[in-house]
Amino acid sequence: MTNPIDFNSVLSLIDRTISPTYLSATQEIVLREVWNGKTYSKMACDYNYDPEYIKTVGCNLWQILSNAFNEQINKSNFVPYMRQKISCSIVVNKRDELLTNQNSQVLSTESLKREFYHWATAPNTEHFIGRDKQIKLLKSWSQDSNCNCIVVSGMVGCGKTSLITKFAKDNQSQFDYVIWFSLNNSLSPTTLTNNFLKIIGQNQDQHSNSGFTQQDLSSLLAQLINHLKQKRILLVLDDLESILEVDQVGICYQRNLEDYGHFLRSIIATNHQSLMICASRVRPKSLEYYGMNQIKILDLQGLEESTIEQITNLDSTKIEKTKLLDLSTRLHCNPQLLKITASHLNIFHDDHEDLEQVVQELCLVEEIVSLLEQELDCLSKLEKEIIFWLAISCQPIPQKDLATNLKHAQSKIKFNKSIASLEKRSLMVKDNSQYSLMPIMKSYVRRKLVQLAL
Ligand SMILES: Nc1ncnc2c1ncn2[C@@H]1O[C@H](COP(=O)(O)OP(=O)(O)OP(=O)(O)O)[C@@H](O)[C@H]1O
Ligand SMILES: [Mg+2]
Repeated sequence: MTNPIDFNSVLSLIDRTISPTYLSATQEIVLREVWNGKTYSKMACDYNYDPEYIKTVGCNLWQILSNAFNEQINKSNFVPYMRQKISCSIVVNKRDELLTNQNSQVLSTESLKREFYHWATAPNTEHFIGRDKQIKLLKSWSQDSNCNCIVVSGMVGCGKTSLITKFAKDNQSQFDYVIWFSLNNSLSPTTLTNNFLKIIGQNQDQHSNSGFTQQDLSSLLAQLINHLKQKRILLVLDDLESILEVDQVGICYQRNLEDYGHFLRSIIATNHQSLMICASRVRPKSLEYYGMNQIKILDLQGLEESTIEQITNLDSTKIEKTKLLDLSTRLHCNPQLLKITASHLNIFHDDHEDLEQVVQELCLVEEIVSLLEQELDCLSKLEKEIIFWLAISCQPIPQKDLATNLKHAQSKIKFNKSIASLEKRSLMVKDNSQYSLMPIMKSYVRRKLVQLAL
């Protein structure tokens, strides 16, 4: 018997019910094929899987669905159960809609496809605090029909992932689809585009990406753009820096991932009704060439002072509030640094302890060393050189004195750009036209230099 209900409606219902977990590609294949009436052995043969593996995937799936729906669901009752569940929800929705709007159109299963959210490894934002101004700004940009792309960029651990995820979760009802992906495993742009299409409901049978060519990427992108035009889709891309590297000239795409230029260009420069929001420790250079209408960039700084007590869990620490705020300023209110520091605050229970000393102590904490090293890795040679001079200077340095010291500053433009970038990343502070370094970075670089000299 043919199924009158679209499988995407089934997937959508399952997705909502099992959230925040989500189906893997193989689980989705098994469900789709059970829906189509295929046996496990036929599936294994068609998709080139071991039959035992498909059986195990199936067993786990029925367990997940039984727990999520609070009903015993198995291979034999899956189709009738879902058919009944969706028919009921159509009737309920239809009744509600008729009650509220006599002129409403008959509800089709199509409307169930709305609210399709794919969160992959998006973090939990239950304990998210502050950032009201930034969330408001992101919201206003997202409502600007010219804006196709928002990039949230900033220092390691400054809260980029948390912010874009919180924004996406709070505003998911504004979109037909929200699709969240991290690029930290350096997916190729072809695989990524294919994954997007698969989630939106295209290319369902295309689960292998080996052997694609540039032509394939172009045609996949054309399909994706088509969807971005027809539906309002929010694509969330985290860890954009994973596809970038800092070379002699600046920030460029990693070798073999240069096609991301094509991918980003297509999404940013084409007219559609969707939005892409990315988080990145560094900005791809090519993004600077788009008009400020199409792309908006938010340079994310540290958390607001008013949230420091919450994030460091002040009540359970012995440190005085004013001292904690002073210490937080030295860490530029970077939430990751604050959280690591908070877990070590019991070491600093003496209120008379010199904060300079505390910062130096923090530079010995393994997680902080790792975070600062990751931050240094994001910098160009010129930016590193500026950091070096600021670290060895006991006093803030006027801009012109800084420029005369530098070996890598071939041009004034490059120098000014580097200064601006370091300021945006909260690594450098300007006061009265004089520059100084973020205290913890200063202590860390000094320690590194001493170690090198020994
Ligand atoms: N607004 C916030 N409220 C509560 N916790 C936050 C907030 N922002 C960030 N954090 C916490 O700080 C830590 C770092 O945040 P997050 O992972 O978002 O930073 P990031 O900028 O994405 O880091 P990376 O550069 O490593 O990707 C996380 O533990 C996160 O939960
Ligand atoms: Mg992140």
